[in-house]
Amino acid sequence: MSLVKKIMNARLNYDGHDYEFPILEGTQGERALDIRTLRKNTGLVTFDPGMVNSGVCESNITFVDGDKGILRYRGYDIADLAEHCSFLEVAYLLVHGFLPTPAEYNAFSKLMNLHSLLHENMRNFFNLYPDHAHPMAMLSAMVVSLSTFYPELELDPTEAIDITVARLLSKLRTIAAFSYKKYMGHPIVYPRADLRYCENFLNMMFYTPVNDYAPDPVITRALNQLLILHADHEQNCSTTVVRGVGSSRANLYASISAGVCALWGPLHGGANQQVVEMLEEAMKSGLSPRTLVEKAKDRNNNFRLYGFGHRVYKTYDPRAKVAKKICKSVLNHLNHNDPFLEFAQELEDIALNDSFFQERHLYPNVDFYTGLSYRAMGIPINMFTVMFAIGRLPGWIAQWLEQHDDTAQRIVRPRQIYVGPELRTVADSLASTPYTHPATK
Ligand code: CMC
Repeated sequence: MSLVKKIMNARLNYDGHDYEFPILEGTQGERALDIRTLRKNTGLVTFDPGMVNSGVCESNITFVDGDKGILRYRGYDIADLAEHCSFLEVAYLLVHGFLPTPAEYNAFSKLMNLHSLLHENMRNFFNLYPDHAHPMAMLSAMVVSLSTFYPELELDPTEAIDITVARLLSKLRTIAAFSYKKYMGHPIVYPRADLRYCENFLNMMFYTPVNDYAPDPVITRALNQLLILHADHEQNCSTTVVRGVGSSRANLYASISAGVCALWGPLHGGANQQVVEMLEEAMKSGLSPRTLVEKAKDRNNNFRLYGFGHRVYKTYDPRAKVAKKICKSVLNHLNHNDPFLEFAQELEDIALNDSFFQERHLYPNVDFYTGLSYRAMGIPINMFTVMFAIGRLPGWIAQWLEQHDDTAQRIVRPRQIYVGPELRTVADSLASTPYTHPATK
């Protein structure tokens, strides 16, 4: 049942006629102009590149207030969740709408263990990629390949949802760790039933036959917190892709695989890799934080300060606040006097006090400090966006399920304003050009 209220009408006067459109209001007072009858009644479409002004669904999963810097999953504040919950509890919350009881948590945890192995044939896929293969490419391919090994979901997407969620969450973690081992050329490490979600991941990443790795509780907690920060962010680019693919009734695996590709882009989740590469490059070549800021302001230069700016947040990203704290605690714990952190903080201070950044409301986003933490944990740079994908997975699943059950949703099929040539014929074109088409030779 829809919780959106119609509160008044707005009037459009166009071509001598008046048209009325409802104004809708969500549970947090967010208002929207309902233009569902626009094209049918007026012949007009809306023009909104990047969907900057377009609401595409009702959702009860995540609330963002970009002006106040608020982010809540199912009503819980992000800092509250990061402080008091594990990633698995938050994953459960996103998918089910409520935090698990201890019994529910244990049952979910058990399912995670049961489904953590990869089919051995899938393990062989890793051998066929070139050594330099980016883990995001492997991740996307592996996720869609899961549909060939575990097709149950395609038959009934709702029946086995807990199993599917556990399978995806658990196997994504295994795939990610295997792709790291492939990159290192080391033997893979299988998941263990006695370890919890994040410990298991760290063990699969860092245990080797010559290094008896024991997961560090401080690092495990930090990883849980970082994954919670990534877990959902309403209608962002990759989630929109997941929903878009799902709108054609493609299965969950296919939709998530597409979401992984969207996340890879440097303007989205790929920014965490870009941030650290940008800082490394600057420090290597002796560029100061101020020079980086000046470069980002130069209108004749495409360079952007990665980890800064956001479509929705016009104030400090609440995830970046928590990420900065996590970063400091990880570095402190590891006794890591990282010149990177100092450089990053100086960059942040200069940007925050610069009128270019102030006028455009550009603040550090979630990717600014998360990469520094991953780096300190020993995770290689090209795995950073994979970490983001592991975190974002429960959000993608929850959004896909919500759309699946939403009877108001239709196949995503936007319109355009055509600006190409008018009707012409091949014969006329051939007659007016000296070029001879191969088919007429
Ligand atoms: N550095 C320098 N200038 C910037 C930046 C930046 N990072 N971000 C935006 N601007 C400027 C931009 O040039 C434009 O200036 P002007 O008005 O003079 O043309 C203005 O700010 C508005 O930018 P926009 O590109 O229209 O904003 P958008 O909402 O379309 O893009 C963004 C949002 C996140 C893609 C953009 O801020 C950006 O490219 N940031 C760097 C990449 C990044 O850190 N991405 C991670 C986003 S948060 C995590 C996630 O979504 O996955």
